[in-house]
Amino acid sequence: MEKILVTGAAGQIGTELVAALRAAHGKDRVVATDLRMPVQSSPGDGLFEHLDCTKLDQIQDAVRRHSITAIYHLAAMLSAVAEEKPQAAWELNMGGLYHVLEVARQYHCAVFFPSSIGAFGATTPPRKTPQDTVQRPSTMYGVTKVAGELLADYYAHRFGVDVRGLRLPGLISHVAPPGGGTTDYAVEIFYQAIRYRHYTCFLKADTALDMMYMPDAIRAILDLMAADPAKLTHRNAFNISAMNFTPERLAAEIAQHIPDFRIEYEVDPVRQAIADSWPRSVDDSAARREWGWAPRYDLAAMTEDMLEKLGAKLKPAR
Ligand SMILES: NC(=O)c1ccc[n+]([C@@H]2O[C@H](COP(=O)([O-])OP(=O)(O)OC[C@H]3O[C@@H](n4cnc5c(N)ncnc54)[C@H](O)[C@@H]3O)[C@@H](O)[C@H]2O)c1
Repeated sequence: MEKILVTGAAGQIGTELVAALRAAHGKDRVVATDLRMPVQSSPGDGLFEHLDCTKLDQIQDAVRRHSITAIYHLAAMLSAVAEEKPQAAWELNMGGLYHVLEVARQYHCAVFFPSSIGAFGATTPPRKTPQDTVQRPSTMYGVTKVAGELLADYYAHRFGVDVRGLRLPGLISHVAPPGGGTTDYAVEIFYQAIRYRHYTCFLKADTALDMMYMPDAIRAILDLMAADPAKLTHRNAFNISAMNFTPERLAAEIAQHIPDFRIEYEVDPVRQAIADSWPRSVDDSAARREWGWAPRYDLAAMTEDMLEKLGAKLKPAR
């Protein structure tokens, strides 16, 4: 029986992943941990503990006490915040992963580690970026993701740790807010569209990036971790994607449902530079071939569902 520990559980992904893991494995078999309390938690939800993943002994202690068999390591600093605090980003993103892998080696745990399209850079082939290609990112976030992918591979090959991972694109969700990434606009736009029918976007109108709706991302994580290891050639850092759009295209899709919705642009040079250094789209055929990845939500289905779910909890401003 699996006993799972999730780091960074109060974040955008963790909030929904913990619920999905509890539904799949049982409420008492998932220990959610973070530096901060989850916003949506209630006493009946399941175990939550304060855990700082930059502290090796705290991870060791939690894994030992709960007889953990798998760690889903989500705690990290995202791209835009990491560019403001590169030293702290290195410490959290690399230090946290190193500690998790070390504890996994010592206590024979499986590990899930999310990488990102940020692991690529300006010299990577930008369209249909292959699974195995040039990775020379220019951001601290990207540097920690490439180094993290390599460290994960090292622990798999050198010590036999079953570490698996995905290069996630920008994630769109309505449960927990995003944590300071370059693709946050694609979430903010929905809140602003419902409340004010207006959004000022920090990326240029024609900035195309790969994106995914959270239910697909959660399913991808569960499917990869359940996949037959004999079928996995890569194991770690799989390219995956579900849809590809620009701010202009997303705004047009929202306008199908909210006809007087308007978008303006005030470009943030830091986040635009980060977006410009990432691929326009990735080739996820290795994930499709090796463990059956297939997204369910395209732009139209995601937009409809986001507006319905957020519309149920937000009121238009007067
Ligand atoms: N959200 C996306 O669009 C996206 C895309 C690609 C990859 N990823 C990756 O997925 C992972 C999770 O992303 P997210 O969007 O949920 O991030 P998030 O910023 O929403 O959540 C991260 C969580 O980590 C916690 N944390 C920070 N420092 C910590 C520490 N020292 N110890 C323990 N917890 C700490 C924060 O409190 C926060 O709740 C990250 O590795 C991120 O790089 C996310």
